[in-house]
Amino acid sequence: MPITAIVTGGAGFIASHVADALIARGDRVAVVDDLSSGERERVPDGAEFHRIDIRDAAALRALVSDLRPQAIFHLAAQADVRVSVEDPGRDADVNVRGTAEVLEAARLCDARVVFSSTGGAIYGEVDVIPSPEATPCAAMAPYGVAKLCGEHYLELYNRLYGTRHLILRYGNVYGPRQDPHGEAGVVAIFFGKLVAGETPLVFGDGSQTRDYVYVGDVVRANLAAFDYAGGHTVFNIGTAVETSVNDLLAECQRAAGTDVMPELRPARLGELSRSALDVSLAGRELGWRATTPLGEGLSETLRSIAR
Ligand SMILES: NC(=O)c1ccc[n+]([C@@H]2O[C@H](COP(=O)([O-])OP(=O)(O)OC[C@H]3O[C@@H](n4cnc5c(N)ncnc54)[C@H](O)[C@@H]3O)[C@@H](O)[C@H]2O)c1
Repeated sequence: MPITAIVTGGAGFIASHVADALIARGDRVAVVDDLSSGERERVPDGAEFHRIDIRDAAALRALVSDLRPQAIFHLAAQADVRVSVEDPGRDADVNVRGTAEVLEAARLCDARVVFSSTGGAIYGEVDVIPSPEATPCAAMAPYGVAKLCGEHYLELYNRLYGTRHLILRYGNVYGPRQDPHGEAGVVAIFFGKLVAGETPLVFGDGSQTRDYVYVGDVVRANLAAFDYAGGHTVFNIGTAVETSVNDLLAECQRAAGTDVMPELRPARLGELSRSALDVSLAGRELGWRATTPLGEGLSETLRSIAR
């Protein structure tokens, strides 16, 4: 049965792919985005577009009352870790207050919220890798604290109102449409430099690891989450594989057919040394696992940049 879905942040990287997938299976999709970092061109043709700030409670509630969606895929966020360090107030305003407003709006029509959260950024430096969902959270930047706070609101609503909202904690998502000009998204930044024949920058010694997961796999996780009927609320979404920045750059070089030496810069404040997510719960409960090998995902990403 087709559903009506609101996708917040749908002019952004990941959410525009979620909107694509919903449209492809015949759902009615409304994108909510204030275009603060998103681009109107990313919103798929088949989606309605509403330029709304998620903190604008009245506008959000009016839209939800009108559309009466079954699902709200909540991806709108201040998603830049470094911006959160420079301006924690703004980060909290969008990521905490904005999430609270989305949850309040969802109550008007009993929509199920699937919230995009983060793994590495909320777990912080950890002893156990890959890290399961039960890992104690010790964020190293305001962004992680705000995302965790958004999660707490969501769990509170589940307890208070009996909703069945879900949380997906992503690894480092990469793929077509990621912004190479931003601070986040090392894959897009590396390819941006390599394609332009410029020298890529590596912060620290490049041994820091991340869990790189392809955007198409993350989209499937969102769809599986909406359909989930079990009792769990929080799921890691990644590959469980650690890839160092140096190895990632080597893979990007291979895909782009270049071998430009990187320029090394001092490590950045709050940057984690290691991160990878244990995804066995998502495998068991959602029947989901990442299926796109890194090399394949990188080639697809590069092809989209070259197009
Ligand atoms: N990219 C990753 O590796 C990654 C990792 C973990 C979690 N996440 C989460 O996934 C989600 C999507 O991330 P992304 O990388 O696609 O980011 P993105 O910056 O490309 O997309 C975010 C979108 O939200 C919109 N937005 C920001 N503030 C808004 C507001 N107040 N009202 C309405 N719209 C607003 C932006 O304009 C943008 O289009 C975010 O919630 C992010 O925290 C991303």
